[in-house]
Amino acid sequence: MATINDNYLKLKAGYLFPEIARRVNTFTQLNPNAPIIKLGIGDVTEPLPEACRIAMIQAVEEMGNHSSFRGYGPEQGYTWLREKVAAQDFQLRGCDIDASEIFVSDGSKCDTGNILDIFGKNNTVAVTNPVYPVYVDTNVMAGNTGVGNDDGSYEGLVYIPISTENNFTPAIPAQKVDLIYLCFPNNPTGAVATKENLQVWVDYARANESIIFFDAAYEAFITNPTIPHSIYEIPGAKNCAIEFRSFSKNAGFTGTRCALTIVPKALKVKAADDSYVELWKLWNRRQSTKFNGVSYIVQRGAEAVYSEAGKEQIKLLVNFYLENARIIREKLTTAGLQVYGGINAPYVWVKTPHGLSSWDFFDELLQNVNVVGTPGSGFGSAGEGYFRISAFNSRRNVEEAMKRITNKFKV
Ligand code: MLT
Repeated sequence: MATINDNYLKLKAGYLFPEIARRVNTFTQLNPNAPIIKLGIGDVTEPLPEACRIAMIQAVEEMGNHSSFRGYGPEQGYTWLREKVAAQDFQLRGCDIDASEIFVSDGSKCDTGNILDIFGKNNTVAVTNPVYPVYVDTNVMAGNTGVGNDDGSYEGLVYIPISTENNFTPAIPAQKVDLIYLCFPNNPTGAVATKENLQVWVDYARANESIIFFDAAYEAFITNPTIPHSIYEIPGAKNCAIEFRSFSKNAGFTGTRCALTIVPKALKVKAADDSYVELWKLWNRRQSTKFNGVSYIVQRGAEAVYSEAGKEQIKLLVNFYLENARIIREKLTTAGLQVYGGINAPYVWVKTPHGLSSWDFFDELLQNVNVVGTPGSGFGSAGEGYFRISAFNSRRNVEEAMKRITNKFKV
């Protein structure tokens, strides 16, 4: 008789974003003409940068000729892309990362989940609260947690609160933890981590032989020059951290799919026989077996991000969304709401007005002003009473949504 991975049965609600889509669909079936504006899931709306489009069109043409056609590429990604990433994203910032330590993939969501393949079952896992739900759900699926509680938390996971009270700075927990997920600029709160904050975690991880999973998907949105873009800007991080990066948010690749995972060769974990094993070797083995690489065409598009034209176009794209975030912050603040984030990140974290719960505010916004956001409680119990508004939309939609929200919810 076949059996299932019954860890899946522990999963509480549906994944957050499909649940939002379900509620929106129900509403639009009943109100087909409602002029809905979606500021929920952080999905980009602006077209791909021209440099990326041109590079991909050229790559498609190459695929049409015998002489330049390509079949399977390297599972780790093409060297020409990895070398540009190493030079421009890391070495330029003083991070000693080599192209061979960079793995190209089809998304950070997949990689932050898949990375658990190379870790054992008895690790104590720490996440922030609130948190990007993928880190939690993939640990549930992998059997790294106990049962779920009514507030959406799971037994066995260590939750580290980040809130207005600690300025969204995760503190070292009392209990020793082995795997730690940190996402900065933060999804969902839009907060950033200073070098000093991250140094505390790197020192902790090294002292305790723990591993940090550092999700830097939103690093392009950092405007404050003192804030690190990579964990490898922190001394010692190469010995304790894996970093995830993405082309989704900086270059609009959410539908095109391309991301990076950095596994330094210096990163070693003790095996059962007390020998130290390079995580790079395990991830390389995992990717070579379970993954056949990102398409040549898409990798050429990603490479164009590092061209002079690409860099200019990406700066404009990021600044466009940051201006949206600024408008969201300004309008909501003027209306008397408390807002956080949105300065070094495309997300604005809002205290719900009139003491409404996160989902009640979600429903009120959807039904009364036809604006969709993300309930803070969907990111964890500490997100209750908060709401995330994404800056990924057209200027017109952002301005219209703010007009509608502030007319209805002046505090
Ligand atoms: C979000 O809205 O949190 C993001 O779209 C999630 C993601 O990038 O997968």
